[in-house]
Amino acid sequence: MENLTNSTKEDPMMKNSSNRILIKNGIVVNADNIMKNDIYIEEGIIKMVGLNLPEPEDTRIIDATSFLVMPGGIDPHTHLELEFMGAVSVDDFYHGTKAAVAGGTTMIMDFALPDKDESLIDVYHKWRARATNKVCCDYALHIGIAKWSAEVKTQMEELCKVYGVNSFKMFMAYKGVYMLNDTDLYNSFEACKNLGAIPMVHAENGDIIFENTKRLLDSGITGANGHALSRPEEVEAEAVNRACVISKQVGSPLYIVHVMSKSAANILAEHRTAQIKEEGRTKIFGETLAAAVGTHWDENKINCWHDAAAHVLSPPLRSDPDTPHFLLNLLANDALQTTGSDNATFNANQKALGENNFSKIPNGVNGVEDRMSVIWEKGVESNMFDPCRFVEITSTNAAKIFNIYPRKGCIGVGSDADIVIWNPNKKRTISAKTHHQAVDYNIFEGMECHGVPEYVLVGGRVCVDNGVLKVFKGQGKYIPTPTNSQFVYNKPNTFC
Ligand code: URP
Ligand code: ZN
Ligand code: ZN
Ligand code: ZN
Repeated sequence: MENLTNSTKEDPMMKNSSNRILIKNGIVVNADNIMKNDIYIEEGIIKMVGLNLPEPEDTRIIDATSFLVMPGGIDPHTHLELEFMGAVSVDDFYHGTKAAVAGGTTMIMDFALPDKDESLIDVYHKWRARATNKVCCDYALHIGIAKWSAEVKTQMEELCKVYGVNSFKMFMAYKGVYMLNDTDLYNSFEACKNLGAIPMVHAENGDIIFENTKRLLDSGITGANGHALSRPEEVEAEAVNRACVISKQVGSPLYIVHVMSKSAANILAEHRTAQIKEEGRTKIFGETLAAAVGTHWDENKINCWHDAAAHVLSPPLRSDPDTPHFLLNLLANDALQTTGSDNATFNANQKALGENNFSKIPNGVNGVEDRMSVIWEKGVESNMFDPCRFVEITSTNAAKIFNIYPRKGCIGVGSDADIVIWNPNKKRTISAKTHHQAVDYNIFEGMECHGVPEYVLVGGRVCVDNGVLKVFKGQGKYIPTPTNSQFVYNKPNTFC
């Protein structure tokens, strides 16, 4: 594999020559344990974890007394500066990653989505060029598969072997744009299996949505509520079932992105349980979103078309008010493994493209900044799960699935110093007026969250310093994701 990481850049925030930091007196939370410890960092890497560590000269001391010290969040699902449905998402790699860091996320995984006839290698380079000089945190790329062909298969192999990509997104929806049929899904899952890569699936039945949309528009339903009417829960659940069946026939792993409904989550959980029964383990994984556990489609809170359009994403927010609690329960019980933001943000003037036709509203919501706080508030503060599980579903599991653990997703000797120092007692109220994102709306507006990052370290750089955001544009690195994740494939890992 070629050397893919950015060269080390001059960082005006690096004060001492050896970049030494000692985090003292905090409660260190990993997915598998929680204990009081100090952490010593040098040149961006955790060098020591233990009690009463010595204080070498020329070391910055951060006192973490009464704070939790956790691996920085990994958001496995973002769409920064994505051209989609006639608009470009307004959070670019600078604003999106700056906001991520402000919220305690130290790495994002963005989807590079090709046009139908675009080479996957070209789209990879396009995304790297967009990101390189803007990213404020580390990033990796998933690559979209918009059609199936022998060339695509060869390009997938090159991406895995040369460019550090180990995950591909296939769409069962967005007919005519990204949607693949079952044969294409079968073939692309098989290619992933042969490469040791991970097929990620947007599971909604695109044919049904296409027909429903026509029928709704013909009957005069053009408003934003038509979006969810065109794609009810069973349309999501059917696709989850089909993706699970296809992956089982192929023998490939499967990662379902943005599980948004009770029905879909139940089907996923059933397939996981069945596979565990049959094979002793499962290669099926499920991601839900901060949006899905933090809010729902609540007519009482939607005052106008603009509000409604701002909440439009696919699969849609469900009107069943039990959905967030239900999904949180599945996160607690390991029926779901990860939480993303699916950050794909469009301003009011862009959402207005669908003013007379819901099917033209650019799909997507915010979340890259607030994901950690929302999951903490709804999960830990509400006693659904403990801080270890919080770390697991916001960071560690993504690192394991995408094969960058323990470099990421862990506070341990040798890991990158991507750390969030979390004050569980401080509160903040989410608002578009104060968020760091470029978008003009926040779907969590007014939500009071416990849990505030006091310090955020990205590769050993203190980017939130006593609550003050101090990012450096372009400081993030591209993180290659090697194939054959042991967590996914359970076979010897040839890379680490
Ligand atoms: O509505 C959404 N989810 N927008 C982003 C594209 C996708 O399907 O993930
Ligand atoms: Zn999707
Ligand atoms: Zn309004
Ligand atoms: Zn998405």
